[in-house]
Amino acid sequence: MTATTPRARLRLGIFGAGSLAQKAHLPVAKAHPDLDVVALCDNNLSRAEMVAQEFQVPQVFSNWEEMVKQVPLDMAIVCTPNIFHAPISIAALEAGAHVLCEKPMAIRSEDAERMAATAKRTGRILTIGHHLRFEPAIQAVKTLIDQGKMGRIYYIQARYLRRSGIPGFGSWFTRRELAGAGALFDIGVHALDLALYLLDFPQPETVSGVSYAELGSRGRGLGGWGADIFKTSKDFDVDELSAGLVRLAGGAAIQLEASWAGYNPSSEFIGIFGTEMGAEIVREGGPFKLRLHQDLNDMPAVTEPVLPQLQAPVPQKQYWWEIDQLVRAIRENGQPMVLPEESVITTRILEGLIRSAGSQAEVRFGKNK
Ligand SMILES: NC(=O)c1ccc[n+]([C@@H]2O[C@H](COP(=O)([O-])OP(=O)(O)OC[C@H]3O[C@@H](n4cnc5c(N)ncnc54)[C@H](O)[C@@H]3O)[C@@H](O)[C@H]2O)c1
Repeated sequence: MTATTPRARLRLGIFGAGSLAQKAHLPVAKAHPDLDVVALCDNNLSRAEMVAQEFQVPQVFSNWEEMVKQVPLDMAIVCTPNIFHAPISIAALEAGAHVLCEKPMAIRSEDAERMAATAKRTGRILTIGHHLRFEPAIQAVKTLIDQGKMGRIYYIQARYLRRSGIPGFGSWFTRRELAGAGALFDIGVHALDLALYLLDFPQPETVSGVSYAELGSRGRGLGGWGADIFKTSKDFDVDELSAGLVRLAGGAAIQLEASWAGYNPSSEFIGIFGTEMGAEIVREGGPFKLRLHQDLNDMPAVTEPVLPQLQAPVPQKQYWWEIDQLVRAIRENGQPMVLPEESVITTRILEGLIRSAGSQAEVRFGKNK
């Protein structure tokens, strides 16, 4: 019998030691047999040191450029405020790492395009943190669409609304210079990603959008996440509610709604209109449910399939899948679930929606972008 040499684990570096890294990336990475978390960076050094101690990460940095320069990485996770996603991801790719960058990919489409181009040029994998794609309801409906069972999909409602969910006033989330936008970039990006994924990412033709900050600007609608939510500043110059109609090449359209706060119930909902069948994907506590709508002998019928449960060795199941599929893509020279070119399209649409809201006019996208 010949002994097999165990393969070396991938050296993982994490940029940002805030809420998401602590809640999701670090517990998943520490439990993953193929990953060795070798370094952690946060510009708040005491936070970085505390988190590194908790998760036994040997090297700690307060400056991301130093970490990129000093630590050879096979894989990097970028979970800093949005403004830093592009520069850190690009530097990590240039240094040879495969990168999982949190959503939103970038706050400007030129940055997203540069990130995608860098991944292509360096031959490294870049993927974006859209863990909701792994939800069984999304995968089930995607399979039905791909098999043609729903006919042609011509309209999708994509809604992610929170009743009171503004991250602490004065944290980076509520400042445009650091976040790019508010609810739209924070949760609207997930809803838009799902809708575009189900439609196979057609190019956008036009977007018409509106944005509001009616509650946040008066200190209402507070939620509570993010590492710096107890800062006392009242800075709030982002949207708390944005909505838009996106027309896509081929004729389909997406109606997007995202809010952190509003006098309306919280709702996570995707409504899909196909020529043969429709579907609702809705969160009513717990994982998403799927309901299918069709005609049976000319009678309207609703079916609620029993979905498989997402299985994972840790409670953070979608994050396990997100990280594990990247590890497998790296090991097997494969593709990740979320491609950078896809998130470039998402970024362009979100940017267009903001522009449209500001100018109170429809935005038309160029042909070859
Ligand atoms: N996929 C998801 O569902 C999901 C959920 C939550 C957050 N996110 C994304 O993850 C990112 C982080 O969110 P969070 O909730 O953890 O925020 P957070 O505020 O809790 O953490 C961000 C951390 O980054 C650190 N930081 C700030 N500037 C830095 C810099 N220049 N270099 C290194 N570290 C820096 C902060 O000190 C903080 O510890 C955001 O982009 C957010 O949109 C995604």
